[in-house]
Amino acid sequence: MASPPDTSKTAKLERCNNYLRRVNSAKIISASSRLLFRASILATVALILLFTLHYPPLLLLSHYSANAAARSSHRSLLSSDVTYGGAAWEREVRSSATPRRPSGLTVLVTGAAGFVGTHCSLALKKRGDGVVGLDNFNSYYDPSLKRARQSLLSRHGVLVVDGDINDTPLLTKLLDVVPFSHVLHLAAQAGVRYAMRNPQSYVTSNVAGLVALLEVAAKHADPQPAIVWASSSSVYGLNTATPFSELHRTDRPASLYAATKKAGEAIAHTYNHIYGLSITGLRFFTVYGPWGRPDMAYFSFTNNILRGKPITLFRVQDGTAVQRDFTYIDDVVKGCLGALDTAERSTGSGGKKRGPAQLRVYNLGNTSPVPVAKMVGILEELLGKKAKKHVVTLPQNGDVPYTHANVSMAERDLGYRATTDLATGLKKFVRWYVEYYDRKSKKEASA
Ligand SMILES: NC(=O)c1ccc[n+]([C@@H]2O[C@H](COP(=O)([O-])OP(=O)(O)OC[C@H]3O[C@@H](n4cnc5c(N)ncnc54)[C@H](O)[C@@H]3O)[C@@H](O)[C@H]2O)c1
Ligand SMILES: *[C@@H]1O[C@H](CO)[C@@H](O)[C@H](O)[C@H]1NC(C)=O
Repeated sequence: MASPPDTSKTAKLERCNNYLRRVNSAKIISASSRLLFRASILATVALILLFTLHYPPLLLLSHYSANAAARSSHRSLLSSDVTYGGAAWEREVRSSATPRRPSGLTVLVTGAAGFVGTHCSLALKKRGDGVVGLDNFNSYYDPSLKRARQSLLSRHGVLVVDGDINDTPLLTKLLDVVPFSHVLHLAAQAGVRYAMRNPQSYVTSNVAGLVALLEVAAKHADPQPAIVWASSSSVYGLNTATPFSELHRTDRPASLYAATKKAGEAIAHTYNHIYGLSITGLRFFTVYGPWGRPDMAYFSFTNNILRGKPITLFRVQDGTAVQRDFTYIDDVVKGCLGALDTAERSTGSGGKKRGPAQLRVYNLGNTSPVPVAKMVGILEELLGKKAKKHVVTLPQNGDVPYTHANVSMAERDLGYRATTDLATGLKKFVRWYVEYYDRKSKKEASA
């Protein structure tokens, strides 16, 4: 009945072995989990690095998903002081914002890497005003053109912050760092036909973005900046009285783009009324010129003519030609600066006590409509090449048949005067186009 000693010994040995095995596997497991831990940290770091390096394209991809503009900003994904804020960043912002002339303006330009924004920022900087730009570099059209404009501005001492107008903490931070006297608000989803494909982007940038900006400006005391912003000739919509005057109806927009700009004018009225913000809306008429927008006809036509690709021209149902009041960029810039210079200070929420704040709307056009076919003729001559024209009936997708500005109010109040005719302006555009894409293709060939 004695229990066999060797059995217990074997059992002990067995237990011991088991124990050792467990210890070993535990060691292996803990070693491998440490390895796993390290690997995952490494992977995370690598991912963050990759994300940061490839951030612009990533942001661009998500930019157009509905309501994503604010969220897609990497600022809300990473801790906010990673990309803005911080002493070095603030120094850069302040230096860009500092005027170089006595009583110079201090202007926040939204959409500064855009066509009009770039020209206005340069013009302001050149005459000694302080300028800080803001742009989200979205991919509605080639972002490399926006980056090239950003480098141009940077060479002239203008910083363009990479960010979205829906990013309220960023806007608040900018207004806290710099006492901006003015905001020139040009950031928007532009283009009439694109609204059929991506309606939400218009709501996000032109309505929500405008409200976000005006909210921050309205609630920012001392100083509360004066606002000058870009509306559009498209608000005239189905208006048939010509030339278009600020007194005409603008309640029949023909595109969602136009509707968001019209909404912007109504929103401007509200913020002026409630918060005493000084606001000036500028209705631009088909602006063109160097560093222009590739989605616009004169630009894409130039591209296609040079490549021997066909271009599409529109004919109105009744057979009449589509005409545009093409306005050269330098003229528009003068109008914008005139609006900034004549903008009165915002009066704040105590508007009733201190008197109502200024609220204005102006046409900025050329006052001489040109048939689009004639614009093509000028391009053909400048490029020394015939266009392959494809003429179709103007579809009902947002384009209006005719625009023509009455600018007498802008002449009276802003000292505005359009001085560049289409042939002169297109010549400057083509000269820039050829040089820019020449240099670009050489750079790409050598890279
Ligand atoms: N060019 C014209 O013929 C014309 C005519 C009428 C009105 N406008 C208006 O003038 C303004 C400037 O037009 P443009 O021709 O220079 O266009 P643009 O597209 O070249 O410039 C707009 C810039 O704003 C940026 N942007 C867009 N949404 C943004 C957002 N949510 N946050 C931050 N940045 C954003 C874009 O990246 C772009 O660089 C726009 O408001 C446009 O609607 C232009
Ligand atoms: C232009 O508008 C002004 C009012 O702003 C008006 O007095 C003038 O007659 C208009 N010009 C034309 C040609 O309609």
